[in-house]
Amino acid sequence: DKGAYPYYMLKEIDEQAVVARNISGHYYDDEGNLQGIDPEITDAIKKADRLYIVAAGTSYHAGLIGKRYFEQWAKIPTEVHIASEFAYDQPMLSEKPFFIFLSQSGETADSREVLDNVKKQGFPALTLANVMNSTLTREADFALPVLAGPEIAVASTKAYTAQVLVQAILASALGNPGFDLKAELAKVAVEIQAITDEKESFKKIAESALKDQHSAFYIGRGLDAAVALEAALKLKEISYIQTEGFAAGELKHGTISLIEDGTPVFALLTQKKTAGLLRGEVAQVAARGANTIVFASESLAKDGDAYVLPEVNELLMPLLAVIPAQLIAYYATLDRGLDVDRPRNLAKSVTVQ
Ligand code: M6R
Repeated sequence: DKGAYPYYMLKEIDEQAVVARNISGHYYDDEGNLQGIDPEITDAIKKADRLYIVAAGTSYHAGLIGKRYFEQWAKIPTEVHIASEFAYDQPMLSEKPFFIFLSQSGETADSREVLDNVKKQGFPALTLANVMNSTLTREADFALPVLAGPEIAVASTKAYTAQVLVQAILASALGNPGFDLKAELAKVAVEIQAITDEKESFKKIAESALKDQHSAFYIGRGLDAAVALEAALKLKEISYIQTEGFAAGELKHGTISLIEDGTPVFALLTQKKTAGLLRGEVAQVAARGANTIVFASESLAKDGDAYVLPEVNELLMPLLAVIPAQLIAYYATLDRGLDVDRPRNLAKSVTVQ
C-alpha cells in the first residue's frame, strides 16, 4: 500500500533510512557484535581465492560498490559481472572461485542461468536477495536476506542501498574495515534521512536542469563512477531522457563531443584522491557549454555546487550520493507527466533471458 504517497518509488526512496536501521538491527546484536551470518558462509568464502559477483541492472551496480568492501576490508580479489554476459561468455576462473549473486527479486533469469552453470561446475554460491525463498536463494548453497522490504516500483531504489549495506556487513565479517562500521552505519541512516528530507531542492534541480532536455550525463571517478552508472540508469529508465553514466576521465576520449549548450552534466564528487581531477573535468565540460550540477561531500564542496552531501566514511558515500539521483529521476519523470512506477517496456522482475 502506498499510503499517502503518489507513487511507490517515492515511498521506497523515503524508506531507505529505516531500511538501513533494520539491516543493522538484524546483523548486529545489542553489544555491537555481528550476528545472522552463518559461520559456514564466512568459512566457505575464506577458502576462496577470488569472488565473482554476478547480477543484472541495479543489482550489478550495487556489486560494483561491494567489490571495494571485499577487496579493501576482506582482502579478497573480486570481479563483478553482468549475468547475461557471464552466462554465455564465462571468463577464465581462478582455482577456487566463490560466487555471490545479488538480486532484489531472486528470480532474474540471466542470474539464474549463471547459477545453474556454476553449480554444474561444482562451485559454491551465496545469494543476497531481497525476496527470500526465491529461486536464486533456494538454488544457491547459502543465502542472506537483504531486508529492504517489498519493492514495488520498477525502478529499484531501496534494494540498491540495502544490497550495498549487506555487502559491507558481510565484508566486515570477513576482514577488518578499520573503523566502527556499526557506528558509521547509524550515521549513514541519519544522513540518508537528512537528504530525503530535502526533496524540494532536488525537485527544483530536476525541473530546472532537465526541462526539455533529451540527454544528460552523470560523471564521477572511483566509487562515484559506479554510482554514476546507477544514477544514469535511474534517470533514463523512468524519464526516458537518454542518460550516460561515465567514468569522468573517459570523457576526453570521445564522449565530450556530445556536450552542447545546456547539456546537463551531474558530477558526483565524494572521493578525495580524485576530487581535483574531477573538478578539472567539470570545468572542461562547462567550458563547452554544459550545465554542470555538482553534488560534493562536505569537505570537498566549493561555492556554486548544487548540493553538499553530508559526510560519512568515504567508502560508504555511495549510500548517500545515490539518493539525490533517485529523487532527481523521480521529479524529472513526474514533471514529464509519466507513470513513475511503471515505465514503458519494463517489468519489475525480468524472468526471461
Ligand atoms: O531482481 P533483480 O535485482 O535481479 O533485478 C535486476 C534488474 O532487472 C533490476 O535491477 C533493474 O535493472 C531495475 N529496473 C533497475 O531499476
